[in-house]
Amino acid sequence: MARAQQNFVCQSCGAVSSKWAGRCESCSAWNSISEEASGGIAPVLENRRGRRVKLMPLSGDEPDAPRIQSGIGEFDRVCGGGIVPGSALLVGGDPGIGKSTLLLQVTAALARRGCRAVYISGEESPAQIRLRARRMELSDAPVELGVETRLSNILATLEGGAGKAPAVIVIDSIQTVMTDAIDAAPGTVTQLRASTQELVRAAKRTGCAVIMVGHVTKDGQIAGPRVIEHMVDTVLYFEGDRGHQFRILRGVKNRFGPTDEIGVFEMTGAGLSQVENPSALFLAGRQEDVSGSAVFAGIEGTRPVLVEIQALVAPSSLGTPRRAVVGWDSGRLAMVLAVLDARCGLTLGASDVYLNVAGGLRISEPAADLAVATALVSSFTGVPVRASSVIFGEISLSGEIRPVSQSEARLKEAAKLGFTRALTPTGITAKPAAINLDEVPLLARLVEDFQDQAESRNG
Ligand code: TYD
Ligand code: MG
Repeated sequence: MARAQQNFVCQSCGAVSSKWAGRCESCSAWNSISEEASGGIAPVLENRRGRRVKLMPLSGDEPDAPRIQSGIGEFDRVCGGGIVPGSALLVGGDPGIGKSTLLLQVTAALARRGCRAVYISGEESPAQIRLRARRMELSDAPVELGVETRLSNILATLEGGAGKAPAVIVIDSIQTVMTDAIDAAPGTVTQLRASTQELVRAAKRTGCAVIMVGHVTKDGQIAGPRVIEHMVDTVLYFEGDRGHQFRILRGVKNRFGPTDEIGVFEMTGAGLSQVENPSALFLAGRQEDVSGSAVFAGIEGTRPVLVEIQALVAPSSLGTPRRAVVGWDSGRLAMVLAVLDARCGLTLGASDVYLNVAGGLRISEPAADLAVATALVSSFTGVPVRASSVIFGEISLSGEIRPVSQSEARLKEAAKLGFTRALTPTGITAKPAAINLDEVPLLARLVEDFQDQAESRNG
């Protein structure tokens, strides 16, 4: 008899190898490989003659996907306007970031709107969930609560039995779900994949939307949500800094809507509350008239967001000066520093450089280049950036400031928050009347400007 085949699977990226190793060759994670049975998946030889696939035209009169709206605007928008019936959503995030809190609120909001919403927890007891619901004043919502980890029981609930199938089911978390069909511990890649596959299939069949919670893990003991991202329709990540009360729900994949949309929440004593005006929140507590602070007018998804960028340039006592970045790409910082050095004669090679995006937001837009450079130059020269200014623009390697998209939306948001000036690339045609533009064609011009101001201050 053939021996049951053993595979070694990386719990972080899902790569399969035939032998154990201390470090995964595919994702470089340490100590993440564990042994799993192959789950009896044997290749089936296709010996039947195939039938031709029925081909059809691309156009058809399909109605737009209907949406189930929770009424929690920030959540609905990140989903692309609401949850699509029969779709599978994955909500990932670090443990303790607030995934259960958010989804309990979403389920309660749906149930209050007369939608059959089921919340299945594999991590908490009913008493714990009830206590939390009471604290968040959700106890009166007709949510149907269940505590279960066995996949077959969850599937039976999803099918609805004699009653109606639920419209939305939340599974908290997918890493606790296990199926007997597979000989592997709950939370392993094999279990996770098999459970997700079954749940996605059941969602399509019944029209019930399945929302799965996935913990992002660092130590590789349980598999992370990345290994099932490709199976689901929508992937949302809930991120934020533990030290801050802001939480950002970011859409990274959506088969039914735009991605890169964000929803901003604030963690309060009574659950998560929506932040309708994130710019005001991110700028709250900003100190004016200090050097090294610049306000970036950014775009997150479809929405303009103003955020403060802080830089600190300090003389270094180390042979290799420190570069520490929070909320931005460190490669991009290296590029801005190189341009400052090579094109503007501003050498920071002997200085430690710290960069921080205030409020725990993570920015990925190149449009933030100019704001970062301004904060750096401001810190280096000790000259504060004018408090009434917002900044945006991309820096090219030649030191020119390049135009960025949606400049009018950025300027409008700035005007709404009372800013009166903007440091921008050249060639902006449409702007609100309240904003005066300081067009910057070259980064060197900006550096000279700050150096002149520093001289006149000292002299
Ligand atoms: P939780 O939703 O349990 O996190 P996850 O499901 O992502 O692991 O959130 C846990 C954290 O949120 C916990 O540290 C306490 C905090 N919290 C509040 O501050 N206020 C609240 O009303 C609730 C319910 C939680
Ligand atoms: Mg939880």
